[in-house]
Amino acid sequence: TYVVNDKCIKCKLMDCVEVCPVDCFYEGKNMLVIKPEECIDCGVCEPECPVDAIVADTESGSEKWLELNTKYSEIWPNITIKKDPPEDNEKYKNEENKYDKYFS
Ligand code: SF4
Ligand code: F3S
Repeated sequence: TYVVNDKCIKCKLMDCVEVCPVDCFYEGKNMLVIKPEECIDCGVCEPECPVDAIVADTESGSEKWLELNTKYSEIWPNITIKKDPPEDNEKYKNEENKYDKYFS
């Protein structure tokens, strides 16, 4: 499966949403997640994210994000149509530790 990591937080550009053939993105306040049990591993969304927030769960360091994607995709609503990203998204593009600072 592919998962969304903390680079998405506060950027939430949503270029990924509409390319997914199985509509498995879910929307939180500050980021999106993928539902691993629905993802068919096609990889189409990965190059769509301008901030490289989408990674394969086989990549090292992605365990935490797999757990987060699994948990929150059960709770958050499905999103299939791109919305406007937050106006201040540029500000957060290169910020570190966004999970500790802003996740909600
Ligand atoms: Fe959807 Fe394919 Fe991305 Fe999985 S890898 S979330 S199926 S676009
Ligand atoms: Fe997030 Fe990138 Fe999609 S910033 S909403 S994973 S295009």
